[in-house]
Amino acid sequence: MANEKKVQSVAIIGLGYVGLPLAMRCAEKDYETYGLDLDKQKVDMIKRGESPFKEKFIEERKASLKKIKASTDPAILKHADIVVVCVPTPVDEKFFPILTPLSSAMELIVKNHKAGQLIMIESTINPGICDEILMPILVQAGLKEGADFFLGHCPERINPGDIKWNVSNIPRVLGASSPKGLEMAKKFYESIIDAPIKLMGSIKEAEACKVVENSFRDINIAFVNELAKSFDKLEIDIKNVIDGAATKPFAFMAHYPGRGVGGHCIPVDPYYLIERAKESGFDHKFLRTAREINNSMPNYTVEAMQDLLNEIKLPMKDTTIGVMGLSYKANVDDLRESPAIKIISELKKKKAKIIRYDPFIKKMSDVPDLKTFLKKCTAIILVTNHSEFATLDPKEFKKNNIKAIVDGMNCLEKEKIKKLGIKYHGIGRK
Ligand SMILES: NC(=O)c1ccc[n+]([C@@H]2O[C@H](COP(=O)([O-])OP(=O)(O)OC[C@H]3O[C@@H](n4cnc5c(N)ncnc54)[C@H](O)[C@@H]3O)[C@@H](O)[C@H]2O)c1
Repeated sequence: MANEKKVQSVAIIGLGYVGLPLAMRCAEKDYETYGLDLDKQKVDMIKRGESPFKEKFIEERKASLKKIKASTDPAILKHADIVVVCVPTPVDEKFFPILTPLSSAMELIVKNHKAGQLIMIESTINPGICDEILMPILVQAGLKEGADFFLGHCPERINPGDIKWNVSNIPRVLGASSPKGLEMAKKFYESIIDAPIKLMGSIKEAEACKVVENSFRDINIAFVNELAKSFDKLEIDIKNVIDGAATKPFAFMAHYPGRGVGGHCIPVDPYYLIERAKESGFDHKFLRTAREINNSMPNYTVEAMQDLLNEIKLPMKDTTIGVMGLSYKANVDDLRESPAIKIISELKKKKAKIIRYDPFIKKMSDVPDLKTFLKKCTAIILVTNHSEFATLDPKEFKKNNIKAIVDGMNCLEKEKIKKLGIKYHGIGRK
């Protein structure tokens, strides 16, 4: 990979799961690296060389944290040849995209502008946001594209907790407002990334790549979640079936069902496309249905527990149900959009006694460790397939007199658990 580097300084706006590893990478590649965040506590931690969240990539390179000139003062943007925007792009309770963090980041760039700056957006956005919303903020402030600034989009694909793929080796796609901007963006990313970079025909195409990637995943998960509900009735083990189908070496890609989709991307990004297409008169029926199915899974998981308790004639009310795992995926401390939140709220409605335990999120755990957790539960809903849970000897459940288990990630040893006389229900797996 080329390692050409003409610009000297980079500023990253938003030092979260996306922005912080990127800032560290820029610092490692000898860019003078500035980091801007609204969160003073986060900035102070970075200044002290501490990671604000548990992430292997960051923890292994802690020394790079102190190389970042982290600040809450937007004036640092004046020093940067390149500004990369990594602020959140969530949806509201009606699933409508919230663009305020992004537009306020643009206002900060305008107020602290450096001539000829390349502005790269890495936040996930729907096709059209750069041209229709961000570009006008810059132009209306009197800045001229191609002279005062260049605008580009490089959708981030980072997968927190992934030990193989990280900010340095994930291939990227790039789109920019002009050929010169695209060339500048290409040089920058080539200097920090050891992976192929694909140049797209427009910013809109680059924006569309990201929502297509995440919608693809959401739809495939919705498909297997629907199959799981059907196979529960047909008494077919979906996990075994998918493992079987996956032996086909072409034209099949295994996706597995579960207690619902979480995280900052998959349950959020499809709405960006749905809403934008709606404005242009197109109804994304397929995407809407996928979202509906995936959103129904936390309730389905609680219903599965209700069925098991009915079988053993225990009421949900006042029975102690353990929520095993809170984060949306294994071995990370990220709670964003986690199905655990909906599962807990459903259990509360049914007046169950709830005990929560997640070894990665101690502040939301009701017990200090797994041993105490098991001792206190009558039944368990496994929400997160943390290694500590997936490798647990089923005899531990028996020893602690656990009567029923809903395995929300199909990661426990079903046959062994059933042989021990414990009621078991996976998702599409009984
Ligand atoms: N986390 C992921 O796995 C992932 C993967 C790919 C893409 N993305 C996308 O990347 C973007 C960022 O996601 P994230 O997970 O890093 O979010 P995050 O919440 O972890 O971090 C965002 C940071 O931006 C800061 N911030 C918000 N508004 C700001 C402003 N106006 N000025 C300065 N700082 C501001 C927040 O304080 C926070 O520290 C989102 O659009 C997301 O969809 C995330």
